[in-house]
Amino acid sequence: MSIEQLAETAQAMVAAGKGIIAIDESTSTIAKRFAGVGIENTEENRRAYRELLLTTPKLSDYISGAILYDETLRQSTKDGTPFAKYMAKNGIIPGIKVDKGTHALAGCPGEVVTEGLDGLRDRLKEYYALGARFAKWRAVINIGDDIPTGTAIEANAHALARYAALCQEAGLVPMVEPEVLMDGEHDIQTCYEVTEAVLRSLFAALYEHNVLLEGTILKASMIVPGKDCPDQADVDEVAESTVMCLKSTVPAILPGIVFLSGGQSDEDATAHLNAMNQLGALPWPLSFSYGRAMQSAALKLWSEDLKGNFSKAQGTVYARAKDNGLAAQGKWEG
Ligand code: 13P
Repeated sequence: MSIEQLAETAQAMVAAGKGIIAIDESTSTIAKRFAGVGIENTEENRRAYRELLLTTPKLSDYISGAILYDETLRQSTKDGTPFAKYMAKNGIIPGIKVDKGTHALAGCPGEVVTEGLDGLRDRLKEYYALGARFAKWRAVINIGDDIPTGTAIEANAHALARYAALCQEAGLVPMVEPEVLMDGEHDIQTCYEVTEAVLRSLFAALYEHNVLLEGTILKASMIVPGKDCPDQADVDEVAESTVMCLKSTVPAILPGIVFLSGGQSDEDATAHLNAMNQLGALPWPLSFSYGRAMQSAALKLWSEDLKGNFSKAQGTVYARAKDNGLAAQGKWEG
């Protein structure tokens, strides 16, 4: 696989006014989302729900790619078309979550490291054959008393770099996601300092592992105060802090940065992205790779009447994609 092909895929993922829909919830995570709206977590319900999302009419107006979970990449629409094939035909690049989740990091209480490197080379080969052209690995950094430690930051950056190098070897664009969680009472300055350290460590590790940044996408968390911090930030403060932090840590050669929503409301996720894109010229496109902030309204609607509300729910997915696509260009009007 040439760097030109990787770079082309990466650029297509962040094409002007387009972003990614993250529908890569593991079976246990989707169980929680389904339980929240009273849907039974069966394989057929998961398949039907992912079909609803992926077959939203004209989704590619604002969506460049979708991140799937292993099970979903092997599933098909009800008329038997594999999802990856359906997506490729409809202008949506298939992506795949390849990490195996977070596990307690021994020796570092309260901290986690993401696992999944063993056997990854072979899994990536299979995912490529199944049609995936980019992959995602999520590292999680917790903020709390005396954490994160440098040890946890480095362990996670190292795993992300090894994953990214394996992806590029297999012809998949790595989406590297070091998520700094919003859980806690910490203030926005703490989030800024932690994220800055995490991104510095990540880009140092990517460099050490010879990862080509031209064929890599960063999935970042925004700079926000902890959910339980009494001093919440306004939209402009989040936008300015996030852009400042990214400018001081992320090389300009990266094709693009997309954000996770991380538990923000739909409206906040869109407003923050829009405000960032109104701050003037940036070295990279800033777009979205939202999970909850793209799906939650549609899931709720669908749960009220699985058959009757199918296309209504798709209308909601399209509306969220449109709002975020406009925000990715700083053109959202609220
Ligand atoms: P949220 O936007 O719901 O945080 O999910 C994005 C994602 O893919 C997290 O890994």
